[in-house]
Amino acid sequence: MFRIVHKQRLSEDVKRVDLYAPEIARRFEPGQFVSVVPEEQDERLPLSIVDADTDRGTITLMINEVGTTTRKLGGMAIREEVYSVVGPLGLPARVETPKTVLCVATGIGTARMLPICRAFKRGGSKVIGILGARTKKEVILEAQMRLVCDKLMIATQDGSYERRGLATDIVQPLLRENRNDPKGLVVRASGSVGMMREVCALAKEEKVPARVYLNPVMVDGLGMCGSCRVKVGGKIVMACLHGPEFNGHKVDFQDFERRLKTLGGKESCPRKESVDNRRKSGFGIFGRFLGDILRPSP
Ligand code: FES
Repeated sequence: MFRIVHKQRLSEDVKRVDLYAPEIARRFEPGQFVSVVPEEQDERLPLSIVDADTDRGTITLMINEVGTTTRKLGGMAIREEVYSVVGPLGLPARVETPKTVLCVATGIGTARMLPICRAFKRGGSKVIGILGARTKKEVILEAQMRLVCDKLMIATQDGSYERRGLATDIVQPLLRENRNDPKGLVVRASGSVGMMREVCALAKEEKVPARVYLNPVMVDGLGMCGSCRVKVGGKIVMACLHGPEFNGHKVDFQDFERRLKTLGGKESCPRKESVDNRRKSGFGIFGRFLGDILRPSP
């Protein structure tokens, strides 16, 4: 039912996959994601929706092939069907327009950022995009970002493309240059934890609001398992239900980073065998829920 209709390699590890999912395409709003299971026994992968085409009934996803299940999905052929796609999940991004907005993204975070830049642009905002990558080969979606940004700046750590350095090196001068913009300046950041934390710190110094897109480990994507809990403004919230976008000045990045390290793994789910065992035990989703809430908090 969820057929792959298009596939394209964007970099060594990142592939674009278009899936036929008309109902999701119709309901999608920027900032939302889907939970994808490639084959029945696989774990769920939370993947940002980069674009939706309601005429063709398709959604566009970016897959960062960093583990078994993402590689399996990336290896599926055009016309093959994935087992399940649930969504759109999460709250839509907050797009206050018109503003001047600095959109900072690194790595696969660019996939989350693109629809948000597009929404700001459609609302009449001035969009300044900043992309960071280790090398030129890792810069993704550059052409699409150029289409939706009034200005796009790129930093590569090895200096192989545009300016040498980090995305955050570009942020401070741009904040100073635009902080008195009559439309009002806002910041959005999506990518590595270190980058988002630093961008928020720089924005705070200039008293500029900043929102970030968190990508914690997610299991069910439905608010039942607790795996995606994050601390925001001193409260525990679920990224899959209350996010994934949050006020960056309120996110506890230290706690977020610690949980990411503790839960480990670059994919979304706990070990496959634990899921299989719970299925075999007949508990189903309630078993998984109980297992997760009973597991000691790391
Ligand atoms: Fe959010 Fe389970 S993934 S509560």
